Amino acid sequence: MNDEFKQRLNKYYDELKWLYCELYENRADELERLCSNIYGFYDERKPELKALDRKRAADPDWYKKGGITGMMMYTDSFAGDLKGVAKELDYIEECGVNYLHLMPLLDSPEGRSDGGYAVSDFRRVNPKLGTMEDLEALAGECRKRGISVCLDFVMNHTSEEHEWARRAKAGDWEYQNRYFFFNDYGIPAMYERTVPQVFPVTAPGNFTYNHETGKFVMTTFYPYQWDLNYSNPVVLSEMIYNMLFLINKGIDVIRIDAVPYIWKQLGTSCRNLPQVHSIVRIMRIICEIVCPGVLLLGEVVMEPDKVVPYFGSPEKPECHMLYNVTTMAATWHTAATKDVRLLRRQLDIVNSLPKEYVFLNYLRCHDDIGWGLDYDWLKQFGIAERSHKNFLNDFFTGELPYSYGRGELYNSDPLSGDARLCGTTASLCGIEKAEYENDEAALERAVRFDLTLHAYMLSMSGIPVIYSGDEIAQLNDYSYHGVPSKRADSRYIHRGRFSRDDAAKRNDVSTVQGRMFKGLKKLIDTRSGSPLFSCDAAVYTIDTGSDSLLGVVREKDGKRLTELYSFSENELTAQLSREVDGKDLISGKKLSGREIKVPAFGSYWLLENIK
Ligand code: GLC
Repeated sequence: MNDEFKQRLNKYYDELKWLYCELYENRADELERLCSNIYGFYDERKPELKALDRKRAADPDWYKKGGITGMMMYTDSFAGDLKGVAKELDYIEECGVNYLHLMPLLDSPEGRSDGGYAVSDFRRVNPKLGTMEDLEALAGECRKRGISVCLDFVMNHTSEEHEWARRAKAGDWEYQNRYFFFNDYGIPAMYERTVPQVFPVTAPGNFTYNHETGKFVMTTFYPYQWDLNYSNPVVLSEMIYNMLFLINKGIDVIRIDAVPYIWKQLGTSCRNLPQVHSIVRIMRIICEIVCPGVLLLGEVVMEPDKVVPYFGSPEKPECHMLYNVTTMAATWHTAATKDVRLLRRQLDIVNSLPKEYVFLNYLRCHDDIGWGLDYDWLKQFGIAERSHKNFLNDFFTGELPYSYGRGELYNSDPLSGDARLCGTTASLCGIEKAEYENDEAALERAVRFDLTLHAYMLSMSGIPVIYSGDEIAQLNDYSYHGVPSKRADSRYIHRGRFSRDDAAKRNDVSTVQGRMFKGLKKLIDTRSGSPLFSCDAAVYTIDTGSDSLLGVVREKDGKRLTELYSFSENELTAQLSREVDGKDLISGKKLSGREIKVPAFGSYWLLENIK
């Protein structure tokens, strides 16, 4: 072992051993094997990646300075395959993007893949998308251009076609022990009493009968996604090796998929158990030892008090970044209600967290929008959970006479009455309806609202991630209705093919695409050019005198940005508690006074020097 590795290992060894032995009693032997195997990954890591590790380790706040703008995309929808994505890097740079989340691209059985989240081989790229060499070459090209690459690490489960699952199906008990197998439905029935359902309609239940073995296997997500058993230390070691293998291809950010689910225990909800945190901390430590330049992004789509613990503590950090999921849901609630009070409260909560905690901000991603709002707080306005969720869904599916949203329900459960929502940003903002109805005024408003939502999202501390296609206001894609393997999963409505024809209109501001692209680009460039958007800026919300106008202030280095975002279809006047006098960075206009007129669905980023 070389000195650098030894030094890093020594720094963490006691904690690693303590965590490991607490999880896996008396398995110090397996820990020794793990430590010597991870050395192999360190050893084979390319010199240029090691150099980047050292550079980033010397500047651990490198990703917190406000200069990163992300985009997430499906390789095939965007450019056919990995080589195609490599050819489109100029476009990605033109968007102002320097962080690319490539959606799952590993081998996954066609038609039983859950959008690639059912991995059958963690070391092989889906041949339709290219090869591992293509991925490595793309990551290398991105590195040259200063673009970070994020990849999913789907660790909660494998596909039923993964080699381990095949061996388990063939009766090999060692491999059955890598999953949760039960001879009859007795124990699964006990689990079902306490474990909620992820896909209550598209994949009800948490267990699947497997014909080959005559046993039941745990399948929290789809029946073809078999949950891995992390109480078996071999599973953790092998999955860590898979992760390091991918990282060594030049990946900068690992998105740990469905992380709250990875530890199961009878009698619990099988979510967010303490052992999950030990495993994430172990993964973090291993990355600090092998590849300290790599960031961990946790996919924790849970209520706020469950999310924040995945940052760990400043002394014992777990994930570098987490999705700002509650803020995202509160944003769409605000769009429907035109009442910013919940969002303001949510932002106050987020802004009061330690500045080390970095959120990944987004308006839309590849998944549905779940209405996980603070209903206890909303009660004071007479808002009840059930009826409010119905209202939000009705609003965004265009069921209400005045609604402009065009979305579809997701996992609408007739038993519980619960449903989530799908749709692209542009369709949810009213662009689809206005275009369909040929209503120029409504279209203008809808584009402005889409830009306002992006302005607000981009202004938040953390890493903003744009959903590919949103930069050209891409609408819902209904073609999945005709594809039997996708029909039941309405998430495909916002996973449509990227339209090259629409992208070609991006420089023509007489088109929706052009207005959206130009507006968004201006926001991105402004953000990345100003230290005001760095994570260490002081941020607080302000009273605007209107419940439909969100006001946020950012301050840093003697500069103040007063941000105003309108969620109303009428022009409103913000009544500020102090005079402002500065320039709107979005329009370039000078604005001053205590009363500022904000156009319908408009936004301002007002810059002043602090006297
Ligand atoms: C994550 C993904 C989602 C997938 C699930 C199961 O939540 O975002 O798309 O269905 O994990 O892997």
